[in-house]
Amino acid sequence: MHMNFLLLASTAMTVLAHPGHHEPETHATIQRRGHLGRRCADHVATFNKRRMNKRSLTKRWEGNHNTTFEIQTEAPFYENIQNDTCVLAPEVTRGPYVWPRSQTLRQDMTEDQIGIPLWLDIGVLDMNTCEPLPNALVDFWHCNATGSYSSFTGLSPNTPFEELLSSMDISDFEIGVTDLHTDDSTWLRGMWPTDVHGMMEMKTIFPGFYVERAIHIHAQVHTDWTTRENGTIVASNTVSTGQLYFAEELEEKIMALEPYVSHTQINRTTNAKDTVISGGFEDGYSPIISVVPADGKDVKNGMIGYITIGVDTSAIENFKK
Ligand SMILES: *[C@@H]1O[C@H](CO)[C@@H](O)[C@H](O)[C@H]1NC(C)=O
Ligand SMILES: *[C@@H]1O[C@H](CO)[C@@H](O)[C@H](O)[C@H]1NC(C)=O
Ligand SMILES: *[C@@H]1O[C@H](CO)[C@@H](O)[C@H](O)[C@H]1NC(C)=O
Ligand SMILES: *[C@@H]1O[C@H](CO)[C@@H](O)[C@H](O)[C@H]1NC(C)=O
Ligand SMILES: *[C@@H]1O[C@H](CO)[C@@H](O)[C@H](O)[C@H]1NC(C)=O
Repeated sequence: MHMNFLLLASTAMTVLAHPGHHEPETHATIQRRGHLGRRCADHVATFNKRRMNKRSLTKRWEGNHNTTFEIQTEAPFYENIQNDTCVLAPEVTRGPYVWPRSQTLRQDMTEDQIGIPLWLDIGVLDMNTCEPLPNALVDFWHCNATGSYSSFTGLSPNTPFEELLSSMDISDFEIGVTDLHTDDSTWLRGMWPTDVHGMMEMKTIFPGFYVERAIHIHAQVHTDWTTRENGTIVASNTVSTGQLYFAEELEEKIMALEPYVSHTQINRTTNAKDTVISGGFEDGYSPIISVVPADGKDVKNGMIGYITIGVDTSAIENFKK
């Protein structure tokens, strides 16, 4: 049995002390995934190349959701696939702002949020077979340009999580169990299934930052999923949980622009200072999204972020819903 569920409950206090601390895993699990990852290295490279070359096409999701999505930019692609920039994210914490009932099935999760446009172009690879994984639901959530999460807009992005909890008199916080939500807003939360080639795309904005954390996007991959009428998830197997990051240089460039630059109440935590990010680099993986300008010229006008998420379909995470 996968260990996350048991360890999650027993480490609630650790999570309280270090809200960013990743849910621990056994060494054997990490090692096993490492072997799977190395075995798939060639496939990842081929997969990424094919994916990037497809970009000028119109993509159509032919599944049960009846939606067409038009790609608006020319196909950018790297001459040489850099395996170390687009590989496999191991499991790290879902963080305190996971909120499944606001995660909505759609390909544009921007709503009214302002910021630099970002198209996330995600490939999902089944690391047991080294083949693209079709019909996997990829689920994202991240904060807005000034650090707030939808559904939690009443919580200050500038107050350390521990202080927030003590101000609310909560002493037994548990991720996914303790209810901290303040409203029903859904912006910057979205999910979409991979197509027959194991690919999906999500339009959003470049995230801002909140206290004590590097800029990041939460991602989960679900299999055997079903949704309600309103597009939220009813049931699924969660096979991967990760956090995706950006290069420091890019972040500096974007954070100097409005509306990000107006977030002056706290200093941004850089990747180098973040305590969670290292979990994403276990065993040679890289959770850094590769970015190219959407107009082929300047990322400030919008960008496309590529990453391949390798999932271990035999390791189901039994999160409490
Ligand atoms: C990267 O991918 C190439 C092409 O498939 C492969 O030859 C190479 O060994 C890989 N490098 C690493 C570090 O995995
Ligand atoms: C998909 O949408 C089109 C246009 O709205 C509609 O004509 C068609 O019946 C729908 N197909 C399914 C399978 O729902
Ligand atoms: C979707 O429906 C569920 C069940 O009725 C509800 O709990 C949830 O808040 C709804 N989410 C949205 C985004 O409407
Ligand atoms: C981010 O969300 C918060 C809470 O809703 C809002 O006050 C703030 O204006 C938003 N930031 C931007 C840049 O719109
Ligand atoms: C940000 O860091 C600078 C340099 O260390 C410091 O002078 C400043 O007070 C910090 N600002 C905030 C809001 O913490």
